[in-house]
Amino acid sequence: MKEKIRVGVIGAGFIGPAHIESLRRLGFVEVTALATSRAESAEQKAKALSIPKAFGNYEDLLKEDLDAVEITSPNRCHFPQAKAALEAGKHVICDKPLAMDSRETKTLVELSEKTGLVTAVTFNHRFYPMVQQSKAVLDGDGLGPVYLIQGGFHQDWLLLDTDYNWRVDAKEGGAARAIGDIGTHWLDTIQFITGLEVDAVYAELKTVIPVRKKAKVAVETFAGKELKPTDYDEVAIDTDDLGIVLLKFKGADTKAVMTVSQVSAGRKCRLNYEIYCRNGSISWDSESPNQLWRGYRDKANENLIKDPALMHPSAKQSARYPGGHGEGFPDSHTHCARTIYQYIKEERYIKGEKPPFPTFKDGHTEQLLCDAILESNRKGKWISVRT
Ligand SMILES: NC(=O)c1ccc[n+]([C@@H]2O[C@H](COP(=O)([O-])OP(=O)(O)OC[C@H]3O[C@@H](n4cnc5c(N)ncnc54)[C@H](O)[C@@H]3O)[C@@H](O)[C@H]2O)c1
Repeated sequence: MKEKIRVGVIGAGFIGPAHIESLRRLGFVEVTALATSRAESAEQKAKALSIPKAFGNYEDLLKEDLDAVEITSPNRCHFPQAKAALEAGKHVICDKPLAMDSRETKTLVELSEKTGLVTAVTFNHRFYPMVQQSKAVLDGDGLGPVYLIQGGFHQDWLLLDTDYNWRVDAKEGGAARAIGDIGTHWLDTIQFITGLEVDAVYAELKTVIPVRKKAKVAVETFAGKELKPTDYDEVAIDTDDLGIVLLKFKGADTKAVMTVSQVSAGRKCRLNYEIYCRNGSISWDSESPNQLWRGYRDKANENLIKDPALMHPSAKQSARYPGGHGEGFPDSHTHCARTIYQYIKEERYIKGEKPPFPTFKDGHTEQLLCDAILESNRKGKWISVRT
């Protein structure tokens, strides 16, 4: 059993500080080093976040005495950084997507198996209390076979042609953009809750804004709204703003449809699902994360307000506050981190225990799904997901 776990973080834009805050809430994890790109001052960021050591490149951070590394840099950096961190003997927690394509994600899975180190991909939506409750309900309340799943992930922060971020460039973010950036959260969440595995997809994707105006100064994620519409370069866009995807699952006659968009006015960051089973239904929406709707044919519907006292035993430990005390996005990251770092602290990987969190294998699965969705969109037909 380790008393303290020393962590280095790579990247401190939008999500890096959220990871750091989550790690600190655990109490037994110490963030001792930070690396950012040379384009911003690692020292300034580290000072603002009270991290003792700062590096302008990840290679120097990896020379530090660290147990684990958290990767919160842009997607194109994930593969070289995760590979180097595993080769340096560190456990690696990488934000999604794991890498740019399935060749890279496969290499990382193989390397993680060779090293025996702990790997994780922060598909944090699994860790909302009402998502954990959804899984417990489907596992234990006798709802019967899942007939239909519908839902998706919608945002509006890329609605205007003056909205620009590295994600819209396939060389920076990968060929699947809205699908890879947020669709993978939905796909991971649905597969986690239902235990179903996607077998085949039929997809249509669309680039609604084919030319975007890129600001001549660097802009952090979600900070673009504060810019004036001056000083832009026009850039041709070849990644998806939105997509619709039909899904088939292995060994189940379940129908599903996912819609994904980063140009849906008014939807800020909304992952939602409705799951219809023979004996009832459930529905959840990340913009009202502390409620779980349950639908019935023969009695009044229910709306469960998050309260550990009213939740399934297997789900209640994900709720850290009593009923009525809302838990949201940062809490989902904290519970994700708690699950990963408790596993590391108790050295359960040495005992061969199955990780209770998404690993690099799940990151690879999501990349294979993106490949299939892109291929289906190109060819206009159903595509089986490679394994
Ligand atoms: N799970 C989630 O909830 C969630 C939410 C947002 C972002 N993400 C993922 O997190 C990652 C980062 O996204 P973001 O929105 O925070 O991006 P961002 O652009 O806001 O921040 C990126 C950070 O990485 C640093 N960086 C860039 N190149 C680097 C390099 N070569 N070496 C070291 N640091 C480098 C930048 O200096 C910056 O600090 C992405 O992969 C994204 O998909 C996940």
